[in-house]
Amino acid sequence: MSAARMPRDASEPLDVTIALMARRDVRHVMPIEQRVYPRGWSKSVFIREIAQRTTRCYLTAKVGSTLAGYAGMLLSPDEAHITNVAVSPEWQRHKVATRLLLTQARVAVVRGAKALTLEVRPSNDGAKELYRRFGFAPAGMRKLYYRDPDEDGLIMWAHDIDSPAYVTRLEGIEAEVNGRTFVDAEVWQT
Ligand SMILES: CC(C)(COP(=O)(O)OP(=O)(O)OC[C@H]1O[C@@H](n2cnc3c(N)ncnc32)[C@H](O)[C@@H]1OP(=O)(O)O)[C@@H](O)C(=O)NCCC(=O)NCCS
Repeated sequence: MSAARMPRDASEPLDVTIALMARRDVRHVMPIEQRVYPRGWSKSVFIREIAQRTTRCYLTAKVGSTLAGYAGMLLSPDEAHITNVAVSPEWQRHKVATRLLLTQARVAVVRGAKALTLEVRPSNDGAKELYRRFGFAPAGMRKLYYRDPDEDGLIMWAHDIDSPAYVTRLEGIEAEVNGRTFVDAEVWQT
């Protein structure tokens, strides 16, 4: 698919390539970050994050050569923390975030994690539904975690991600994706 062509609707299959975020991607990440968050990360935060390959996994999702979304994860020995998930408004509702999270969850397991966690605005119903599908459940609040507008952060956890049941859950989520997902081999090698 060329960069200019957009799918008509979610019923049209969409091929997406997932790869490690490179420094050259950051200039395409920034316009999305600035559109979807009132107080997004700066370029230097992304550059600092992606440089830490042993404890971070930052992925891009591309449609042809167009960067449609990205997701970041912080890895510690037993658990992984999803730090950022964003999809350009034009490409939302085409399972771009789903494909990013499918890959992040599998990377987390390969890297030894048994649980996934993240924070989300309680008002962000779309994101909460996305995370619920991945087995995330509410586990508490972080007071005034977000600014502009001020809001507490809802902490969510998905446990036992290394279990056969979770593998089955991911396969079920993947079966609902319309189109192919290509994952660059480098993603598994960090
Ligand atoms: C949240 C976000 C990442 C979702 O990305 P996406 O690629 O559109 O998500 P997907 O297409 O993979 O959605 C998967 C499912 O999640 C749910 N979902 C996602 N966005 C939704 C929305 N706006 N409203 C309701 N449900 C939504 C739906 O159940 C959807 O499945 P369906 O389309 O078959 O109904 C995207 O809307 C975004 O970037 N938002 C701004 C940044 C943000 O809020 N990030 C999360 C911070 S914690």
